Amino acid sequence: MLDRIQRLKEHALSELEVVDDPESLRAWRVKYLGRSAELGEMMQALKDLDRDQRPVIGREVNQTKTALEEAYEKREESLRIAALEHSLQHQRLDVTLPGRPLPQGRLHPATQTLRRIYSIWAEMGFQIYRSREVETDEYNFELLNMPAHHPARDMWDTFHVTQPGILLRTHTSPGQIHVMRERAPEPIRVILPGMCYRYEQLTARAEIQFNQVEGLAVGKHITFADLKGTLISFAKRMFDQDVGTRFRAQHFPFTEPSAEMDIECFLCGGEGCGVCKYTGWLEILGCGMVHPTVLRNGGYDPEVFSGFAFGMGPERIAMLRYNIEDIRLFWGNDLRFLEQF
Ligand code: PHE
Repeated sequence: MLDRIQRLKEHALSELEVVDDPESLRAWRVKYLGRSAELGEMMQALKDLDRDQRPVIGREVNQTKTALEEAYEKREESLRIAALEHSLQHQRLDVTLPGRPLPQGRLHPATQTLRRIYSIWAEMGFQIYRSREVETDEYNFELLNMPAHHPARDMWDTFHVTQPGILLRTHTSPGQIHVMRERAPEPIRVILPGMCYRYEQLTARAEIQFNQVEGLAVGKHITFADLKGTLISFAKRMFDQDVGTRFRAQHFPFTEPSAEMDIECFLCGGEGCGVCKYTGWLEILGCGMVHPTVLRNGGYDPEVFSGFAFGMGPERIAMLRYNIEDIRLFWGNDLRFLEQF
């Protein structure tokens, strides 16, 4: 019996010597260490042996099993190393090369600017109110004090839909009427951001779609001083604590009086450069006191209520801020442009 075990061991070990791939290694293991292997059978047969032989043979079987297991593990390890060396030599994979970085996504510059604008107005107590992009002629023009055929409509080149009286909003101002009709007679302090559309010839300065952020405050004692103070405070937070501002008279049919606000050119500090067209000033928004007719259309008595409104273009502000020369870059989806932000 002892001889048989010895022979089995020698046989197994010499067979293991020539095993040189994982496939035959596995086969070897099944053959010598598997459940129906010879060693296993010997274990089973122990109980049929004489009492005094049992421990001797048993120990021998166990030791052989351990020896074979150790030999197996060594072989497995050396095969693994050999395989690694083989692949290092033949596949010429340079594991020291740096990996390819995954490009990181980021927010669109228009979104970044919008979010900045939202958070500044939120700090000042303005809620966000969203209103529709497909509008009626009534809301986009008529209720804003521009009856049909009024020449002021020429300020906005309009995309009309085939259905009469329906259009893509040319500005966010129709949202003013929506909020007022929903909230009257409560006081209002909201901003109305969103996409606007104009039937324009595409140029470096004009796009057919762009964002606007409208603002509206309605209450019982709102004055032009409130408008100025609020907008100057916004400009300081948006651009720089000591940015210079000025208001210029302007005309909008839905505000009276109306103005435009300029900020001091941050590129040249007011001395005059290409960005401010040598004026030292950059126009950033239109504004004014809500016209009595518009207040009435929104459900507020202009004898009791007053309000101010403003509208700014975030893409325009981003263009000024980052010195972007062509507005078409915003929706051109050119990664070389977008990755700069
Ligand atoms: N809606 C105007 C525009 O598109 C901007 C504006 C809004 C002006 C509110 C005054 C008050 O040009």
